[in-house]
Amino acid sequence: MQVEMEKRVVSRYALNLVKGVDILGLGSGTTVSAFVEELASSDLAEDLKVIPSSSQIESVARRNGLNVVDPSYGKPDLTIDGADEIDSELNLLKGGGGALVREKVLAVNSDYYVIIADHRKLVNRLCTKKPLPIEVLPYGVEWTRNLLEVVLNSKAVIRMNGESPFISDNGNYILDIRCEPLEDPSAVEKQLKLYPGVVDVGIFTELADEVLIAFGNEVKRLSPH
Ligand code: 5RP
Repeated sequence: MQVEMEKRVVSRYALNLVKGVDILGLGSGTTVSAFVEELASSDLAEDLKVIPSSSQIESVARRNGLNVVDPSYGKPDLTIDGADEIDSELNLLKGGGGALVREKVLAVNSDYYVIIADHRKLVNRLCTKKPLPIEVLPYGVEWTRNLLEVVLNSKAVIRMNGESPFISDNGNYILDIRCEPLEDPSAVEKQLKLYPGVVDVGIFTELADEVLIAFGNEVKRLSPH
C-alpha cells in the first residue's frame, strides 16, 4: 500500500539525521513505529539512547532492542515525531494517538525537532480533515467539554476506548473537537490553554525545525526558514 511504503521511505531518509546523535526523542504513532524498526535494523542504534513519548512507542522501541532511557537522562539532541496534519506554515495538528502532551514536552526540549509524514498529512489549514484533540483533566470533564464547545462553537466528544473513556499516559481524557479549519492556530492554542481543566492542545506552532514528507519514493524536506 502506497502510504505504508511512504512511511518506510521517509523513515529511511530520516536515519541520515540520526548520525552523531546521542539522545533521540521518539514521538508516537505508526510512522514513528516504522522509523523505530528502520533504526533498529541500521548500525546507528547501538550507542543511541532513546526517550519515548508514550507507552505505545516505548513498547515498540523495547521490542526492537533500542536502549530506552527516561527524561532525567538528558535532553534529546533530536526528536523524530509524526503528525496528523501539517499546514503550509509547518504548524502541526497532533494527538491522534493521544500522546500530545509528552510529544510537546519533547518538542520544546529537543535541540532539533523533525516531523516525518506521508503525503496525506499536508493540508492548507489545520483541522481540515481531523478533529482537534485536547487533553483534559477527568475532573469536571463535562464542564470543560461544554465550555470548549461554546468557545469553539463546535461539537466536542470524549475519546473512547471501547465502552470507557480513552485514558492518556498522564491519566487524562482526550476531547476531540470537530471545528472549522483554523485560520490562526497559534491564537486558538493560546486561548484554549487559558481554561482550567485543559492540560494541553494538539496544536504545535513554531516547533518543527524540519518536516520530511514522502511523495511516493521521493522525500521533500520543508523547513520554516
Ligand atoms: C500521537 C500523534 C502522532 O504523531 C500522530 O497521530 C500521527 O500518527 P500516525 O503516524 O500513526 O499517522 O500525534 O499523539
